[in-house]
Amino acid sequence: MKQKTKKIYVINGPNLNMLGKREPQIYGALTLDQIMADLTQQAIPLGVDLGFFQSNHEGAIVDKVHEIFEENIDGIMINPGALTHTSVALRDALLLLSCPIVEIHLSNIYKRESFRHKSLLADIVTGQICGFGHYGYQMALTAIANMINES
Ligand code: DQA
Repeated sequence: MKQKTKKIYVINGPNLNMLGKREPQIYGALTLDQIMADLTQQAIPLGVDLGFFQSNHEGAIVDKVHEIFEENIDGIMINPGALTHTSVALRDALLLLSCPIVEIHLSNIYKRESFRHKSLLADIVTGQICGFGHYGYQMALTAIANMINES
């Protein structure tokens, strides 16, 4: 019997809608739409469906995670932006989920200001990719799609 197509959600937090304009020397020149369009192409041969969500509002992201919990999504890729370093609410919401979660950062947060060195999510996610710019999203998709297709 053919397996159901797996669904992965890509969540982006505050200020990531400004990629391309925002500190390009740190975050690169590509817009979020360009990065997500590349992921959509990459997902086709991997046989996974992608859903996308970006918000500048912590509560809206928590609400989205609750929706994902009800929908039985197979995997999450999340760049929580600054919420990485501050949001117990996002951490608690992600703890609802049992699917693999990849935490992504365009920049290497450990090479930056000390307040960025602490991720409140790092110890509850499957893994973290940081410092590879937009390639980090592609790396995360390869890893999570293969992981869930094999499971
Ligand atoms: C970021 C790193 C965070 O510290 C920062 O607040 C962001 C982007 C990154 O992708 O490198 O908004 O998550």
